[in-house]
Amino acid sequence: MRTAIVTGASSGIGEATARKLIADGYNVMLAARRADRLESLTEELGEHAAFHVTDVSSRADQEALAAATTERFGQVDALVCNAGIMPVSLIEKGDVEDWDRMIDVNLRGVLYGINAVLPRMVARKDGHVIIISSIAALENFPSSAVYSATKAGVRSMSDTLRKEMTAHGVRVTTIFPGGVKTELGSSIKDQSVLEMMGGVFNFEFLEPENLADSVAYVLNQPPSVCVGELMIRPTGQA
Ligand SMILES: NC(=O)c1ccc[n+]([C@@H]2O[C@H](COP(=O)([O-])OP(=O)(O)OC[C@H]3O[C@@H](n4cnc5c(N)ncnc54)[C@H](OP(=O)(O)O)[C@@H]3O)[C@@H](O)[C@H]2O)c1
Repeated sequence: MRTAIVTGASSGIGEATARKLIADGYNVMLAARRADRLESLTEELGEHAAFHVTDVSSRADQEALAAATTERFGQVDALVCNAGIMPVSLIEKGDVEDWDRMIDVNLRGVLYGINAVLPRMVARKDGHVIIISSIAALENFPSSAVYSATKAGVRSMSDTLRKEMTAHGVRVTTIFPGGVKTELGSSIKDQSVLEMMGGVFNFEFLEPENLADSVAYVLNQPPSVCVGELMIRPTGQA
């Protein structure tokens, strides 16, 4: 049985992905900070699910997550770097603490996660790293500067890693979601930004399950097939 770590598994795309991968026959280690949510989800998902409370911006937490997964399920076949935050704001507002948090979680969090599992994947010549970037990596909107920079940053990292891993049998995929119905926007504080976004993103968003299906599609390809990049938008998103 193959084993996946899903970060940001306490809600939204990560939760849906954990459910989908369990249904597809994976062992899944769910990682996030909200222990209560992880505990009830894991209980619901059954014996092939486990959880580890993890702050992805902590290297120590990510090393402990990889170790706990290996101890519980034997090895890590796939890492889904999904945890992310989006407290967007106009640069002129100077919300420097939010900039730092986005860089810590969305960029450093992905690097630390990869660092914790990659050496064993390389040694086994097998493994798959999936990084959830965003359409915002490719298309900016006012207030998205730092969020877009982190998502463009992981795209760049991911593509570089894919090239480095071609000799090692480890696959690397970046997924770029458009709008998805999740809790992601709940950290936006600036009312004018919320109003602006309501005007721009005035279409029906995807369900988290749509993204979970795309993760499963990527993971379930034969070993000789690497889906490098996948963009999933709502039909109504320009
Ligand atoms: N929703 C969209 O429209 C959309 C579009 C493009 C890309 N994305 C990307 O999709 C990913 C998942 O977001 P979502 O839309 O599913 O939003 P969400 O429902 O808010 O989920 C975000 C997840 O990340 C976790 N998380 C946040 N900070 C963390 C930290 N420091 N350490 C560990 N986990 C942390 C949260 O759990 P805890 O709070 O329990 O830690 C939660 O499980 C993000 O990377 C986001 O940028 C979303």
